[in-house]
Amino acid sequence: MSDLLVVEDLTITFPTTRGPVDVVKDVSFTVGRDETVGIVGESGSGKSMTSLAIMGLLPKGARTRGSVRLDGAELLGRPDRELRRLRGDQMSMIFQDPLSSLNPYYTVGLQIEEMYRAHRDKSRRNARRVAIEALAQVGLPEPERRVDHYPHQFSGGQRQRVMIAMALVCGPKLLIADEPTTALDVTVQAQILRLLADLRRSSGTGMVFITHDLAVISSIATRVLVLRRGEQVEYGTAEQVFAEPRHDYTRMLLDSIPRIDDEVSA
Ligand SMILES: Nc1ncnc2c1ncn2[C@@H]1O[C@H](COP(=O)(O)OP(=O)(O)OP(=O)(O)O)[C@@H](O)[C@H]1O
Ligand SMILES: [Mg+2]
Repeated sequence: MSDLLVVEDLTITFPTTRGPVDVVKDVSFTVGRDETVGIVGESGSGKSMTSLAIMGLLPKGARTRGSVRLDGAELLGRPDRELRRLRGDQMSMIFQDPLSSLNPYYTVGLQIEEMYRAHRDKSRRNARRVAIEALAQVGLPEPERRVDHYPHQFSGGQRQRVMIAMALVCGPKLLIADEPTTALDVTVQAQILRLLADLRRSSGTGMVFITHDLAVISSIATRVLVLRRGEQVEYGTAEQVFAEPRHDYTRMLLDSIPRIDDEVSA
């Protein structure tokens, strides 16, 4: 079977007062079905822009070149109407800050229901049942009660669980997680990582996991892409990259890993 996601020579250009600037240059990688690919790099290296380009969510003015194919179908240049239909259904994204991506005026249940009803089954009663199941699946206690609560009534880690429930409720083929644990403390971070790994395994979703932390990548990804200033400096299996980094920059990142791998994968 073909790869789930194929990114080929992706270049993202922004117009600036000093002329066009490439914030991502000729990046290529593939995500197999049932695989987690990690993207790592320092702040500003183009990790978020790469994922937004895949989702069709780049800011206005950005231009893309190259190719992004999901299940064989080209995504770059697709009309927004079609991309909207794919988002949440075929591909989902979890953002770094769950508070800004949840609507504070609606209960979390309603927001999960909306996602489900937009793509699957219009019936309200089914959607509510599905929302409660989704909250239970991400390990939120008392889902029948919590489904009627508003985002501010949850802790940071719980909100991230709600976001994961919403992202997975339609059973997407591809999940992009953009630094989903950065805002959380280390213990909660480890719990969320474990949850994502478990859900991915049980649902067979392909995942792109973005972080600036190589230790996190080593616990979750089978393949690793290292970005630096928009360029791909390393790409290979996690074993290759960790055992024989080809680039000084990767070596430097590896040297700066605190030994928390054991805790994360425990
Ligand atoms: N609207 C924009 N116009 C021009 N350049 C932008 C715009 N948004 C982001 N950039 C630039 O694109 C580059 C890549 O940004 P991106 O958000 O992808 O970085 P990142 O790797 O996700 O960093 P972080 O780890 O901080 O989230 C940065 O240099 C940033 O300054
Ligand atoms: Mg980012």
